[in-house]
Amino acid sequence: MAKVRQLPPELANQIAAGEVVERPASVVKELVENAIDAGASRITVAIEMGGKKLIRVEDDGDGMEPDDARLSIERHATSKIARAEDLEAIHTMGFRGEALPSIASVSHLVLRTRTRDAEAGTEVRVNGGALAAVTEVGLAPGTIVEVSDLFYNLPARRKFLKSDVAESTQVSRMVTQLALANPTVGFTLTSGPRVLLRCPPAGRMEDRFYQLHGERPDLVLVQKEAGGLRIRGFIAALAEQGPTRGAQQYFVNQRIVKDRTIAHAVIDAYASATAKERSPEAYLFIEMPAESVDVNVHPTKAEVRFHQQSVVHEIVRRAVQESLGSGPVPELRLSSESGSVQAVNLSLPSLMASLQSTTPGWTVPSSAPVGEAPGGFPEQSGIPCTSFGPSRQSPGGLGQSRIDPTVPSDVSGQLWGVTAQSSGVSGQPSGEMLSGTLPAVGGQTFQSAGVGPGQSVAPGAVTIKPLIPLGQFRHTFIIAVDDDGVAVIDQHVAHERVLYERIMARLTDGPLES
Ligand SMILES: Nc1ncnc2c1ncn2[C@@H]1O[C@H](COP(=O)(O)OP(=O)(O)OP(=O)(O)O)[C@@H](O)[C@H]1O
Ligand SMILES: [Mg+2]
Repeated sequence: MAKVRQLPPELANQIAAGEVVERPASVVKELVENAIDAGASRITVAIEMGGKKLIRVEDDGDGMEPDDARLSIERHATSKIARAEDLEAIHTMGFRGEALPSIASVSHLVLRTRTRDAEAGTEVRVNGGALAAVTEVGLAPGTIVEVSDLFYNLPARRKFLKSDVAESTQVSRMVTQLALANPTVGFTLTSGPRVLLRCPPAGRMEDRFYQLHGERPDLVLVQKEAGGLRIRGFIAALAEQGPTRGAQQYFVNQRIVKDRTIAHAVIDAYASATAKERSPEAYLFIEMPAESVDVNVHPTKAEVRFHQQSVVHEIVRRAVQESLGSGPVPELRLSSESGSVQAVNLSLPSLMASLQSTTPGWTVPSSAPVGEAPGGFPEQSGIPCTSFGPSRQSPGGLGQSRIDPTVPSDVSGQLWGVTAQSSGVSGQPSGEMLSGTLPAVGGQTFQSAGVGPGQSVAPGAVTIKPLIPLGQFRHTFIIAVDDDGVAVIDQHVAHERVLYERIMARLTDGPLES
């Protein structure tokens, strides 16, 4: 007798739901992503009992015609892809045609939807995967999906759900991340009568970040474009002495992802800048051509595969490293000869900028901590979300900077670097990690870890690799690191050299002064 049999569609859907629908937060993710794919500009999420009793997602997107609405709850029914080649460059959040039937198979689901042109809407009711009714209803354009009694027909799965508060927290986190990834969409989240989050549509990622997280002077802005990648976001400043572990949220083409390549690149960048092991707070939004990334590698689309993994790693690492170099440097607490402890806290970019202000050619390119131009938040940007999230408001107005306010905004911030040649000190365009050569002055201007005490650096050009400033000691020495080790720079001697170069340039290039 034959043992192999075709499973009934409801059972197949429940099996699929086992992967896609883990808890209320995963239902919210799928429904919100559908709303985003439908071009919604406002999405409202309401939950009751942490989403176990009810999840309701309403959008003002394109809506569906009656036939599409009926089909949308069938397995493998999608409007987002049609051919195998479409899988090579996916431009939508969904593409499998699995979410709605999976959710419907483990709940009571009601879908109401109307296109802008239609005179009436359609209501589709499904109970545990079985179609119960399709009727015409009055409705504003858009779609409302209500999911009640999640896992009512799978008691074992329902038992795995946590308390209402814990599930509600997960939903809240999920909506916060979806809101971060989609700044132009307005989001509201309510739990019973309580509004957990409300953020109006914002212009840019920075504005949405401010709406959700408030002012965060402990973070620095990341921005880099290279190799077809565009990276923006915020990371913990090196000077931040807070917890060594923080939230790490990564987004690839607006998709929330868990990705080891990105995570490793971030850790790598910190490792070259600080001896303290850190798993720092980081929010990175990475955009790349859809054909450079495979999103069809994980059941809940939470992981992706980069076609050029090592390139992505390198660009992310550099982006983070450059931003770390631009942020405020930590306090150096070293014992002085007298035994007392001397603490110095100086922003190296401001120091370098002050050199630049007297010396054309010394360049401190610009990126900035949160609240700092350019690319930071403009004053009063965005309207803060009403949020019960872990917002860390700190005193001081938006736009307040931890970089010396006297530093011109176009020179403060980014990874600083110097290029000096014997013919004069020349600037570098901003935005790239810089390196160059600086002639040694009296053999003592620049010592690298490879040069022992008392040893002088040979006259001639010394190559300066990209350096990350760690701090300043006794108002004299800048301590910095690069991939090879620690560099100690006598800032006064360096300044003299800059002045010398400037005078030489004036004597050789300009007209003779009498
Ligand atoms: N909120 C919505 N507004 C308009 N159309 C929707 C909405 N939700 C679903 N649809 C339509 O229903 C179809 C099925 O949705 P479903 O979420 O099951 O699959 P999908 O989004 O195509 O792929 P995936 O399973 O990867 O999410 C979608 O392709 C879309 O055409
Ligand atoms: Mg979907």
